[in-house]
Amino acid sequence: MNHTAVAEAFQSTAQRSGPRLKTLPDFGGSPQAMLEHFTAHPGLICDLDLERQPGTYARNLLWSDAGTSVWAMVWDRGARTAIHDHHCACAFGLISGNLTEIRFRAFDGIRVAKTWEAMHQPGDIASLATTHPNIHQMVNDSDRVAISLHIYGYDPRVHASSVDREYLLAPA
Ligand SMILES: [Fe+2]
Repeated sequence: MNHTAVAEAFQSTAQRSGPRLKTLPDFGGSPQAMLEHFTAHPGLICDLDLERQPGTYARNLLWSDAGTSVWAMVWDRGARTAIHDHHCACAFGLISGNLTEIRFRAFDGIRVAKTWEAMHQPGDIASLATTHPNIHQMVNDSDRVAISLHIYGYDPRVHASSVDREYLLAPA
């Protein structure tokens, strides 16, 4: 699918529900291919009328069906998620700005220790599978807004979010 066709697949609704995809562009069912396309053409996401929330992050649902949902996340300066894992597969690509991702290992069902940290750049793509420990946290500790695109293996009509459980950082 070319750039123009993807752009035309977006449809702005009259309500504040924001921009939505009328159909999911055909990338052969590959989240990686879809993220590669959108990170290579960041204007497709950045130019949308995305919801933003001061001091935190805003989730913009762009498309969903029974097995997949696609979200654009707008991260204000200082925004951070809880430390969490997922009940479904997830993949994301950074569209603009910088986001720090921190990964953890669990001591038990509540406490975790940090194992890895990376500053994602525009164009970076990462994924987490439910078949492996997938506890992480996303933080915008930069001085500008960041936008990321996320593809999750869940139906938002069934689950409120992709998060399975939230954790607390164990004392060092
Ligand atoms: Fe996550």
